[in-house]
Amino acid sequence: MTFPDAIAVGYLLAAVLFILGLKALGRPRTARRGNLLGATGMFIAIAVTLLDRAIVDFRFLALGVAIGALVGALLALKVRMTGMPELVALFNGFGGAASVLVAGAAFLEVVDTGTVDDQLAVAAAVTVLVGAVTFTGSMVAFGKLRESLRWNGFSGLHIVRAATGAVALILVVGVVVQPDSLGWFWGLAAAGLLLGVLATIAIGGADMPVVIALLNAFSGVAASTTGFVLDNPLLIIAGSLVGASGLILTQIMCTAMNRSILDVVFSKAVVVARGSHDDAYGDGVTSTSAEEVAMLLEVASRVVIVPGYGLAVAQAQHAVRELMTVLEGAGAEVMFGIHPVAGRMPGHMNVLLAEAEIGYEHLLEMDRVNPTFAQTDVTIVIGANDVVNPSARDDAGSPIAGMPILDVDESGTVIVVKRSLSPGFAGIPNPLFVADNTLMLFGDGKQAVLDIVAALMEG
Ligand code: TAP
Repeated sequence: MTFPDAIAVGYLLAAVLFILGLKALGRPRTARRGNLLGATGMFIAIAVTLLDRAIVDFRFLALGVAIGALVGALLALKVRMTGMPELVALFNGFGGAASVLVAGAAFLEVVDTGTVDDQLAVAAAVTVLVGAVTFTGSMVAFGKLRESLRWNGFSGLHIVRAATGAVALILVVGVVVQPDSLGWFWGLAAAGLLLGVLATIAIGGADMPVVIALLNAFSGVAASTTGFVLDNPLLIIAGSLVGASGLILTQIMCTAMNRSILDVVFSKAVVVARGSHDDAYGDGVTSTSAEEVAMLLEVASRVVIVPGYGLAVAQAQHAVRELMTVLEGAGAEVMFGIHPVAGRMPGHMNVLLAEAEIGYEHLLEMDRVNPTFAQTDVTIVIGANDVVNPSARDDAGSPIAGMPILDVDESGTVIVVKRSLSPGFAGIPNPLFVADNTLMLFGDGKQAVLDIVAALMEG
């Protein structure tokens, strides 16, 4: 076997491992194996690339690896579980930026020699556009997820956005037709960066999860087109896998949120008055105590627990597991209602509950749990807000109108555990808090659940 053949076989092996890894990641039981297969594939891919002489000086590589490893290690040590979604947004953005830099450098190098062919020009133009949009779009998503970026754009935003998109497409054609005139290239990079901001700045309410999935797909597309720039089959395959799985996830998110991708991408500015909204509730809120909740639970035969973002903040998963054990010991049936966008990243609640070793057979997705609320004695909502907000179902003017919710208000009694009347991610009031069958248990999610467990043990 010649050396180039050995490189190609190594890349093929890595690609097969990526595909098998992705398949195994599709089921909780095989996910660890999937991770291992993917990591092995990546190890082979890196080793083969290093053996291939067509790469830069090893000293530059060592420097890059050292800097990357240092930043990665610091992030891994510093980032808390609740910061994961922001970190994923950053990774998407850096993926887009890396594609722009690599494809851009390769393109400019060939421009110098005056031998740009059509494949290179098209691939470089698409990479620069998609990668630049991914970079700035992900930075905006990062700010929104941290809730440090509150600006939702301006009226007429959709017109400016459409105009910028049209200019970007003209610039793509310019790069392809006249690759040697670098004005097209730099103009395209600038238009892509601007478009990323304009496309994501108005996104809010129920659309953020869809955008995160879409940006993830974009980062894959940019990597894949970079593969065409470099003529590297592994990058084409790996990027396509990320792009395709990101698009599938986007589609799943759209279905879950009852949105079409066009609704999300062409949304107008979402203007939400953030703040406490405490006045919206008047004196309709009924608060309760852990002891009172324990008394209700003692006579309940079916209990559903609905986790949300606040459960992750409070790290209440182990306390919730304890509560489940005590209730089951007393003969109650305990289930968990999982909304597809509860928390801040896909599968957020599943990961948290799996950490506390709560079996998958206890987790009911939205379409399975909703028909059961009417037969549920007590539903305990822990740190969830938007995903149980009845205005999504009942108020056509709400920013989250049409988003499917968990119909917890159909249960006998609803206990809402949270620290205050503050809104959730969408920033809007929640009529559930003043419903006749709702009792509010104010406090940190973990402490409140531990107090309920203690009261049950005493009772
Ligand atoms: P949210 O609507 O964001 O509500 C979380 C609630 O948790 C808050 O109202 C907060 O109230 C409470 N909380 C915070 N810390 C707490 C603690 N230590 N103890 C108890 N409660 C605490 O959460 P959700 O219902 O899970 O909905 C998710 C939202 O995020 C949706 O709007 C969704 O569109 C959006 N989003 C989701 C994703 C994905 S993919 N899942 C990605 C981006 C955005 P207090 O401050 O009063 O305690």
